[in-house]
Amino acid sequence: MPMDTVVKPAIVTCTAPVNIAVVKYCKCHMYPCIVSLADMLPFNTFQRHWGKRNEDLILPINSSLSVTLDQDQLKTTTTVASCRSFQEDRIWLNGKEEDINHPRLQSCLREIRRLARKRRNDLDCSVDMGCLSHKVHICSVNNFPTAAGLASSAAGFACLVYTLAQVYGVDGELSGIARQGSGSACRSMYGGFVQWIMGEREDGKDSVAQQVEPESHWPDLRVLVLVASAERKPVGSTSGMQTSVETSSLLKHRAKSVVPDRMKQMIEAVHKRDFATFAELTMRDSNQFHATCLDTYPPIFYLNTVSRQVISLVHQYNRHYGEARVAYTFDAGPNAVIYTLQQHVAEFFHVVRHFFPPDNNGKKFLTGIQVEPVSISEELKNAICLEPMPKGISYIISTKTAWFQSKQCEVISVFPCVLKAGPGPHVLEDPSQHLLGADGLPK
Ligand code: DP6
Repeated sequence: MPMDTVVKPAIVTCTAPVNIAVVKYCKCHMYPCIVSLADMLPFNTFQRHWGKRNEDLILPINSSLSVTLDQDQLKTTTTVASCRSFQEDRIWLNGKEEDINHPRLQSCLREIRRLARKRRNDLDCSVDMGCLSHKVHICSVNNFPTAAGLASSAAGFACLVYTLAQVYGVDGELSGIARQGSGSACRSMYGGFVQWIMGEREDGKDSVAQQVEPESHWPDLRVLVLVASAERKPVGSTSGMQTSVETSSLLKHRAKSVVPDRMKQMIEAVHKRDFATFAELTMRDSNQFHATCLDTYPPIFYLNTVSRQVISLVHQYNRHYGEARVAYTFDAGPNAVIYTLQQHVAEFFHVVRHFFPPDNNGKKFLTGIQVEPVSISEELKNAICLEPMPKGISYIISTKTAWFQSKQCEVISVFPCVLKAGPGPHVLEDPSQHLLGADGLPK
């Protein structure tokens, strides 16, 4: 083909971060659940705002707050190519072509294209006239195990929406579109400390994320991810939440009577960098979220033996020092996310190592920020009444990502990686980082 007739795709690559909620979200899912939600809200509010809320919009029953994690260790990278020679929209996730017709993918594509069309009409010009009629190829990879409770859908949909927005040249409030891919994805559209305001409108237009403080606000806050299992979680958070909303009265009590005050207290703790309050609220919220899972009928179990050991360890460690130095939180999986301050990272890391001795065949146990060697006092060891739990598993570590394979379903290994709060999505300028080649196919 002569050079001038070669059709080259427009290609953009972006990365987006994972976020970990310290006040968890739960959503309003189906009509039957809305009937049971009626007693959650004042009657007129329910009539006005909930009666007709559309389940596809992914609207929460309470506001939530999260910390966006640094992308050095945990991120999604997405390339979108747009070209007039493409026959259809296509998507590859973590090396495998997936069905582009998934309703959540379609929602994001539709909404971004709608915004782009609106922008073009508003500008009354032919900006990227062709681009909107072109099909897109999307290729996305995570550098961490998918579906292991590490909010891969949050980083994934945030990255998709952000990258599509670059391709179509749209900007402005995009978190409401990311939310329609995965609820928690709206919070990954911002860095630092982010709240997702539940909103009241039937069309969900006011259910958006907002930055509470940037990542620079609390520079000594650290995060350790203790990966207890890379197994696929038995209950995806979507189906789990749906059952919870339908059957758990504790969940309604939580949304109506607990979360509104907790959000205010958490935002104040973040503003003041008050770690003790932040830690207690975080642990209480995680415990209540998992209590609502147990209150679901039939119940849902996300925590396993290691998760419970980590919970005990944290409480005993804090009790030993007479203050909250570390806090745990668990999403829809057994991995513990630990929040702490820089000055406690090294000791707590070595405590974890002592009580969960690694069986890593000399391979790297820790990735991320380096931790200096610290010896743990006998007094501290004795204060923590736990039997050490060595891993009965084999695992593989690739260059940047640790993958664990358990010999049995009953897991476990503990893989901590030290992280900081980080910024929101951004564009990668280096073309060598594109995941799609000039032919529009994965490299
Ligand atoms: C337990 O955002 O994964 O992590 O909206 O159905 O995609 P969908 O669910 P998802 O839910 C995660 C919920 C949580 C708590 C939280 O992050 O707030």
